[in-house]
Amino acid sequence: MTEKTPRLRAALERVPTYKPGKPAAAGGPAAFKLSSNENPYPPLPGVLETAVAAAASLNRYPDLACTDLMAELADHFSVPLAHLATGTGSVGVAQQLVQSTAGPGDEVLYAWRSFEAYPIITRIAGATPVEVPLTGGAVHDLDAMLAAITDRTRLIFVCNPNNPTGTVVRRAELESFLDRAPAEVLVVLDEAYIEFIRDADVPNGLELYRDRPNVCVLRTFSKAYGLAGLRVGFAVAHEPVAAALRKTAVPFGVSHIAQEAAIASLRSEEALRERVEALVGERARVADALTGQGWTLPESQANFLWLPLGERTLDFAAACERAGVVVRPFAGEGVRVTIGEAEANDILVRVAGEFRKEL
Ligand SMILES: Cc1ncc(COP(=O)(O)O)c(C=O)c1O
Repeated sequence: MTEKTPRLRAALERVPTYKPGKPAAAGGPAAFKLSSNENPYPPLPGVLETAVAAAASLNRYPDLACTDLMAELADHFSVPLAHLATGTGSVGVAQQLVQSTAGPGDEVLYAWRSFEAYPIITRIAGATPVEVPLTGGAVHDLDAMLAAITDRTRLIFVCNPNNPTGTVVRRAELESFLDRAPAEVLVVLDEAYIEFIRDADVPNGLELYRDRPNVCVLRTFSKAYGLAGLRVGFAVAHEPVAAALRKTAVPFGVSHIAQEAAIASLRSEEALRERVEALVGERARVADALTGQGWTLPESQANFLWLPLGERTLDFAAACERAGVVVRPFAGEGVRVTIGEAEANDILVRVAGEFRKEL
């Protein structure tokens, strides 16, 4: 056999590995998974039945254009059909956005720490990531991000609320940022967690994109809608960008089951509201309990909380796991804890209280 191996792109050597949230051990002590910002509720009423019925046509390719889902989205969010594009989760759409705008020599700008897929999809495209540190309060430093724009910048991600800190950028600062960002640079407002926002000062990206052709809004069915396993997300952007997204999509990437389940989920708005409200209530309960124990955490508007534990990060994650909950540690920085079922949240609060006493 020859010693030679296929030539791979050098850019791949610098692609970081995506670390998925650790699963809860089956039958083990860590019964609850609070590591991937998933929704603890089962699919919304009627969605599972719809998905099962859709599975009957597994021998067929799905509708490439996602026609019915696109029509439902256009109606639900009052946006023109031509401004919509779907993809395999919003991470799939984010990758299409990078592929549509940036290649070798180009820069993709985002806050750091933020969603860990940003550096991966940037490197895969052969582009250069430019990471602007969050402020001391774990919030996007929009002025520093503006200052970091060069003539090579092609795309800027603004993750609102930010994963993993849960912090938000508010209307006045975001509008000022958008007003000053160059019109040729695409600004992507990643709103994966928008349904959990209760701060009235945080804008809905759909209001901001309308008269800004360089703004794209990214949404997902994975979080509030609870369809993480089906991989469907979408973008809303003006026509040239939306058209580019349709070109860069993996053909037939969004399955028929995912399309049908997403439509059924959009039609279950009341149940969605109730579940999100319950999770937001749990978020406040857990945040209050932790603050009462003496923890200082940034205010979260998402379905997770951020504990800036620094060097104690891995110890805390291990203590959680021993007690029955799996969290998401970022070594040396902090722990992200998803708000889950009340029982899991109770365990987390208990462990945090015990850990606090040892600090
Ligand atoms: C900020 C952000 N954007 C996008 C995603 C991707 O979600 P999905 O690909 O499941 O839509 C996530 C998932 O964790 C996220 O945190």
